[in-house]
Amino acid sequence: MNAKWLEKNKERFPKHIGFIMDGNGRWAKLRGKLRTYGHKIGVDSLVDISKYARKLGIKYVTFYAFSTENWKRPKDEIDEIFRLAKKCIDDNKDDFNKNNIRLNFVGDIDKLPNDLKIAIKNCIKDTKNNDGFVITIAINYGARAEIISAINKIIKAGIKSVDEKTFEKYLQTAGIPDPDFVIRTSGEYRLSNFLLYQSAYSELYFPKKYWPDFREKALDKAIKVYLKRNRRYGNV
Ligand code: IPE
Ligand code: IPE
Ligand code: MG
Repeated sequence: MNAKWLEKNKERFPKHIGFIMDGNGRWAKLRGKLRTYGHKIGVDSLVDISKYARKLGIKYVTFYAFSTENWKRPKDEIDEIFRLAKKCIDDNKDDFNKNNIRLNFVGDIDKLPNDLKIAIKNCIKDTKNNDGFVITIAINYGARAEIISAINKIIKAGIKSVDEKTFEKYLQTAGIPDPDFVIRTSGEYRLSNFLLYQSAYSELYFPKKYWPDFREKALDKAIKVYLKRNRRYGNV
């Protein structure tokens, strides 16, 4: 992105972008490789996009890494996704504190393999005071499960009635602003249980590119699309 253009427009950039990282399997298949190879290169995209978004001054990014529905996949593929997630945390954790980055997670992490669960818990603890840039990973995440769990917590707390503000405190995303922009790669036009409550007024964008090919230039293009949108929030 051209520095002058960036300076002129960055005030209007989305503050929070959600990424539904889709198309790893098809990307790999096109190249005659295993689906898991697509996930491996998909992690490179996640790291690239995080670094670039931070450079552009975007404050929050959320990546959908594993849905509550993804347990339907073959065990080998699931194991490899979790192995790659653990490796990605290990490879990047020094960078988080060095650069004031908070690594946050949403989803039911208790069901994850033990080594990954420990890495996640440590990472949350070690980076919780960083506030320069917030990366949220949605892993074993489903928006319906998140909403139901919030309702159960509210019942347990003996609260009889809530408003939106109170309800949002019980969501796992409490403290993180709603995504302004949700990008799903691979040309599928659905949200697949991603941040359903929080994306009520998000701008949606569905580029054709498969996630492993979604890099800096693709994010530039996406932001340009976003800047052309007219967010009315029900107004005229
Ligand atoms: C997205 O890529 C990654 C995860 C869901 C973990 P896919 O694995 O869904 O790739 P396609 O959609 O089969 O190509
Ligand atoms: C959505 O992708 C979930 C993630 C990106 C983690 P899927 O590929 O699992 O979604 P569906 O099955 O096509 O809806
Ligand atoms: Mg998919």
